[in-house]
Formats: sequence, C-alpha cells, structure tokens
Amino acid sequence: MELLKLIKNNAIKHKKRIVLPEGTEERTLKAADEIIREGIAQITLIGNPQEIKSLSEKYGLTQTGKANIIDPLNYEKKEEYADLLVELRKSKGMTKEEALNLVTNPLYIGVLMIKNGDADGEVAGAMNATGNVLRPALQIVKTEPGISVVSGAFLLLTEKPEFGEDGLLIVADCAVSPNPTAEELAQIAVATARTAQNIAGIEPRVAMLSFSTKGSAKNEMVDKVVKATQLAQAMAPELAIDGEMQADAALVESVGKLKSPGSKVAGKANVLIFPSLEVGNISYKLVQRIAGIEAVGPILQGMAAPINDLSRGCTVSDIVNLVAITVNQAAGLSK
Ligand code: ACO
Repeated sequence: MELLKLIKNNAIKHKKRIVLPEGTEERTLKAADEIIREGIAQITLIGNPQEIKSLSEKYGLTQTGKANIIDPLNYEKKEEYADLLVELRKSKGMTKEEALNLVTNPLYIGVLMIKNGDADGEVAGAMNATGNVLRPALQIVKTEPGISVVSGAFLLLTEKPEFGEDGLLIVADCAVSPNPTAEELAQIAVATARTAQNIAGIEPRVAMLSFSTKGSAKNEMVDKVVKATQLAQAMAPELAIDGEMQADAALVESVGKLKSPGSKVAGKANVLIFPSLEVGNISYKLVQRIAGIEAVGPILQGMAAPINDLSRGCTVSDIVNLVAITVNQAAGLSK
C-alpha cells in the first residue's frame, strides 16, 4: 500500500541507526539484508559474528556484511555500559556484578546503546516475548516528558475506503498496558492521535470505544471510558476526541448519526482507542487473521526513544516495515 512506501521513502532520507538485538534470527537477518540494500536504516546486529556470517551465507544474503556487528560476549563498550546501567538503576539496588551479567543480554545491550547515544532506535521481538523486550526499555530508556504510560498502536490497512481515513485505521493499546486507568487511557488516546499525525500524516478523529454509546449502558467499565474521554479532551483540546461509543457508531456513518448525532467523530473515526489490552490485542488479531487485514505494528508510543516490539509470528516484511516506522519516529522525536 502507498502509505508503507511513503514511510520507507521518508526513512531513507533520515539515515538513522537502528539496532536489531536478535541478530542471528532468520527473519531478522533477512530483513536486515533488505533494509541495508534499500538504505532504510544503518543497522547494528547483535550476535556472534561467525554465526551471523555463516547464516548469511546459508540464506544467500549479500548485504549483512555492511552491518555493524556486536558480539554480546565480547565488545569494547561492555564495561562502559555496565557502569551506565549501575548509574541508572542504583536506586533499584543494581550492583556492578548484576550489571556485568545483564550487559551480555542483547536486549539490554540494545537499549543501553540508545541511552548512550550509540543508536537511534531498536526493533526486537521476533523470538522474545513482549515483556522481555519492553522491560529493559521501560527501565532504561523510560517515557518521554509529560507521558507516564507506554502503549502500542497498530496501523490497520483495511483497503475498505468507507472506513477510517480512506481505509486506514490507527488503533491502540494492543500491546502494553493490561488495564489502564482513566488517566492512562486519556494519555494513550492523545499519544495515538500524535502517532496518526506523525507516522500516517492524517488529521486524527479519535473514538474512545466501549460497549455503550453516550450512556446507552451503565457500568463502571463505561464510566472509566467516559472519564478518560473528558481527560483526553482537556489534555488536547485541539484534537477531535469523542466517546464513549461502540465500534459501529465510531465507524459506520449511518450508525454514528443515529447513536451520536452531532459528533465530529462518530461515523468517521480514524483512530480507535480500546478500553483495555484484552480488547485491543484480541480485536487486532481477529481482523488480521479472519478478515486478512494488514496490521502494521505494534508501534510503541510514549517512550523517550523509539523501541518497537514484533509479534513472534512476524514476517520479514513486518520487520522491514517496523524498522522504517522506527526511523520515522526517531526523526520525529529528534525534531
Ligand atoms: N508505561 C511506562 N512504564 C511502565 C509501564 C508502562 N505501560 N509498565 C511498566 N513500566 C515501568 C515501571 O514503572 C518500572 O519502572 P522502574 O523499574 O524504573 O520502576 C518498569 O517498567 C518495570 O515495571 P514492572 O511493573 O516491574 O513491569 P513488569 O515486569 O510488570 O512488565 C510490562 C511491564 C512488560 C509492560 C508488562 O505490563 C507486560 O508484560 N505487558 C503486557 C505485554 C504483552 O504481553 N502484550 C501482548 C502481546 S503484544 C502483541 O501481541 C503484539
């Protein structure tokens, strides 16, 4: 789709340094080869150099030799990163011995490279569970100023122009915060609207989803979404944010008019905010698998530097796309 081409072309202009900690994983290596060939990013692969070389030969890859390669057991900045880790985590009781052990873990090396200014972003998760990718990132890189909660958005490329922005929907949180408070949900809504602006270049119309539209049901879960809507509107009065509303009221013009007359969002939402991670994660996987909709992400929002987590079921092109998005996020954050 055009949007992904645009994102890749933008990435090529920025020349950002992206670290891939799973440097010996097959799809990651193949993606690195494509990224380097297309000039989408400068790549660092973390992994045993001999193994990377022989796997590259096995897969017929010609570009991975141009990557910066870090052997996690033997690299020159190991001591420096251990000291940085102790400094950052001493209030949590981190000792030098523990730090020296952690700086052999590629997922810690990746985020320490970013913190130390040696890389601009990271993509991982092809073979590590989300929690293991996120924990070092949340501990070391932390959130951007003014934001306390990290969340994960997906671009849904529905190819159905009647929905969202000519078929594009941006949805969150599908990846990080299991049960956000109303305050956190409001932050997630505003962060997702910014992702829609920065990555997709669209003017967001944000629907705060629930099983109720404008008071049609009474429940504490609905109350949370009503409160989050008010807080998000107060946080970003310039944005079109409305709720609570059901998914059909958000997406289908006739239903939106009927259930929420006069709303600037109902019937034409292009950003959907789910009330909890259960809803978000299950929903995106259902539309992806059953309806065959391309889901790009998760794009992590709210972190002080872009670190993105892959699904372990990802394809090579998922990795290439997410690296291109990460480059654009890094460029947006450095502006
Ligand atoms: N935003 C910002 N910071 C956070 C967040 C958040 N959402 N969650 C935790 N943190 C910070 C904490 O403040 C803490 O910082 P500190 O150590 O400096 O005080 C640090 O992260 C670790 O916090 P814990 O509460 O110990 O974190 P935990 O080990 O519970 O892990 C995690 C946090 C990994 C995000 C957890 O909530 C999680 O696993 N979430 C679900 C992820 C998931 O499995 N998603 C579904 C799959 S994704 C997919 O399908 C695409």
